Amino acid sequence: MASPRTESRRDVPRPRPPAEELTPSSVITLRTGREMPVIGLGTWMLTSHTTESVQHAFELGYCMVDTSSDYMTQPGIGKALRRYDRPRASLFISMKVEPEDNGYEATRRNLEELKLAYVDLVLIHRAPEKGVGEKLWEQHMRARADGLTRDIGVCSYKIAQLKTLAESTGEMPAVHQLEWSPFGHSLDMLSFCRAQEIALQAYSPLTRGKRLKDERLGEIAGKYGKSPAQVILRWDLQHGVVPIPKAYREDHQRQNLDIFDFVLDDIDMGTLDGLNEQFSALEKLDYL
Ligand SMILES: NC(=O)c1ccc[n+]([C@@H]2O[C@H](COP(=O)([O-])OP(=O)(O)OC[C@H]3O[C@@H](n4cnc5c(N)ncnc54)[C@H](OP(=O)(O)O)[C@@H]3O)[C@@H](O)[C@H]2O)c1
Repeated sequence: MASPRTESRRDVPRPRPPAEELTPSSVITLRTGREMPVIGLGTWMLTSHTTESVQHAFELGYCMVDTSSDYMTQPGIGKALRRYDRPRASLFISMKVEPEDNGYEATRRNLEELKLAYVDLVLIHRAPEKGVGEKLWEQHMRARADGLTRDIGVCSYKIAQLKTLAESTGEMPAVHQLEWSPFGHSLDMLSFCRAQEIALQAYSPLTRGKRLKDERLGEIAGKYGKSPAQVILRWDLQHGVVPIPKAYREDHQRQNLDIFDFVLDDIDMGTLDGLNEQFSALEKLDYL
């Protein structure tokens, strides 16, 4: 495994569209031609007042929500969607199914919980114990062909697993969701996904709060008059990575969307890249 210190910075992908021009409603184009918002709301542990919380996020301008069958947030998200007076097509809902499940049936069950006709993205929650989920992928392809989801992707796959999946199924995932922060990320993965036109989504982007008091991060935040969380999310955007921070508190939700009025300079981007120590707020970075 390559140490982060030995990774080349030369071929780190540049943002698309240019970071300076991004707004809260900006989108990136996926390899399938469809579009995905540049930031979303995570909902793990958003179990109290889910509906009100998600509705508040929509009102602030969030267009994307991430969920999973095991978060217990699907019914509340579905309710928020029905209450919120905005065309379904302007919102992006992504959810996950477990590798042990049948992808098609699990997607149908989740849609029933959400009371939705389709989601925008279904992700395989993690690589299976054996193989890379070729069968599961085919079930997801069937779900996509039947209109249950628009796009399909994976979570926390290694580069070799992504290659094997593409070799056996004939396609790369549209989206790769993985744990990602300045303290734990892989520029090699970023380069690979950029080259393959796989969009990267950053989960636990705020390290579940565990590293927000880091002194070097704090210094950069002070320089821009922003919070450490905002600096991290901006760092994601400038790398072309799509963060999905979870926030229950209204001030957190608001703050996390207020990241479009400043640009981190190259030196600060380099400093943030250099904070990488393969830190994981969960257990480990499974994709390394
Ligand atoms: N694919 C996977 O296997 C996987 C694994 C983990 C997570 N995820 C997804 O990724 C989402 C985000 O990850 P996460 O929930 O693990 O962690 P996270 O987003 O890194 O951190 C969430 C924590 O940060 C706090 N926070 C939010 N905004 C803040 C701000 N501006 N300043 C200070 N603190 C702030 C939140 O507080 P409040 O809630 O109190 O506001 C919450 O305690 C999840 O919710 C889930 O949707 C996916």
